[in-house]
Amino acid sequence: MPKRPYVIEEMISAKTIAARVEDLSREIHDEFEGTDKLVVVGLLRGSFVFIADLVRELDLPVEVDFIEASSYGNKTESSREVRILKDLRGEIAGRDVLVVEDIVDTGHTLKHVIGLVNAKGPKRLKTIALLDKPSRREVDISADWIGFEIPDEFVVGYGIDFAQRNRNLSYIGKVRFTNE
Ligand code: IMP
Repeated sequence: MPKRPYVIEEMISAKTIAARVEDLSREIHDEFEGTDKLVVVGLLRGSFVFIADLVRELDLPVEVDFIEASSYGNKTESSREVRILKDLRGEIAGRDVLVVEDIVDTGHTLKHVIGLVNAKGPKRLKTIALLDKPSRREVDISADWIGFEIPDEFVVGYGIDFAQRNRNLSYIGKVRFTNE
C-alpha cells in the first residue's frame, strides 16, 4: 500500500540546533566537571545524531553506550508498552551517567529507561532530551535538560524518523500530510 504523501516543514533550523547543543554541552560540562568518566547512553535510534554532536562538544572523559527501546513502529501513535531490544554493553555501576533521548512524548520510554539504568546502580544519573512535547505527557517525568519544547506535532530530522525515513535531515521539521 502506498504511503500517505506528506511534506516536511522546517521547525528548527540546523543552525539553531547547533547553537542549542553548544549551550547544553556547557551546562553538562559544569554539572559533570571533575568526573573520572561520564557514560553517555543514547537511546537508539532517534538520538544518534544528537549524541554525536553533543559528545563532540563535551570536554570530559566520555564513554558512549546505547540502549534500544521499542517505540512507534510505523505508526504515529506511541505504544505504552516499552520493550528493551538492546541493553547496555558496558558497566555503569558507580559511574556518572547521562541518558540521551530524542523526544519525550508520553514519557513512558524515558521513565522505563531511567528505571532500568537506575537498577544498575550509577553514582549519578542525569537525562537530556533534544525535544519535549509536554502536552502529550501521560506519566510524570521530565528530562534534566531539554533542547526545545515543541507543540503536539509529529516531527522528523536530525536523527528522528517517520517510518525509518528522514533521519538524515540536518534540521527538524514537522510532517504535514497532503491530500493527493
Ligand atoms: P514516549 O515513550 O511516548 O515518550 O515516546 C518516545 C519516543 O517516541 C521517542 O524516543 C521517539 O522515538 C518517538 N516519538 C515521539 N514523538 C515523535 C515524533 O514526533 N516523531 C518521531 N518519533 C517520535
